Amino acid sequence: MKNLYFITSNNGKVHEATEKLKPFDYNIIQKDYGYPEIQTETLEEVARFGVKHFHQKKIDHPFILEDAGIFIDALKGFPGVYSSYVYFTLGLDGILRLMKDVTNEKRTAQFKSVFAYGTTQGDIQLFVGTCEGIITKKKQGSKGFGYDPIFKPTGFDKTFAELETNEKNKVSHRAKSLEKLVTFLKDK
Ligand code: IMP
Repeated sequence: MKNLYFITSNNGKVHEATEKLKPFDYNIIQKDYGYPEIQTETLEEVARFGVKHFHQKKIDHPFILEDAGIFIDALKGFPGVYSSYVYFTLGLDGILRLMKDVTNEKRTAQFKSVFAYGTTQGDIQLFVGTCEGIITKKKQGSKGFGYDPIFKPTGFDKTFAELETNEKNKVSHRAKSLEKLVTFLKDK
């Protein structure tokens, strides 16, 4: 097994990455180091900035970190890069309230995950995954984390919070970005 350091404070992300990468012989080690999340328009920039932060700190092993968010079409892409802040302020109930008059056909949304891989030499590689779906009218399910109870991926009649990790890991934004990361690491 090869060790892969994942810098995050989010245990849900660690759980999903651990399950996803196990068959590829990667062992995820969580490092709960904080880093500044700049205010900018793209997840890519946030992730890149995070990696640069650790390069400046002369981190002594390769690592990954992730920035993710949910983009709701009826809200013109909100909360997007502000997903974390909005989760702790408006919350899921606030999002559902904002969308109370939005019809079923217009409740489309997209999750996006950007993983960044940083080397000790200062290199950065980004891996992007997306997952299409809809925002439900009420919260459903208790698994997962964050916006999982209000997001139903396309082709499923369950929210992410009603799916087991191995099911979410077949279709999620994070699953797709991690698959790209693994392909990259294999070819290195
Ligand atoms: P961050 O990548 O940790 O900044 O996450 C941004 C926000 O999106 C947080 O509120 C997370 O809980 C939420 N989020 C990220 N990925 C997921 C997911 O897979 N399911 C549900 N919420 C997510």
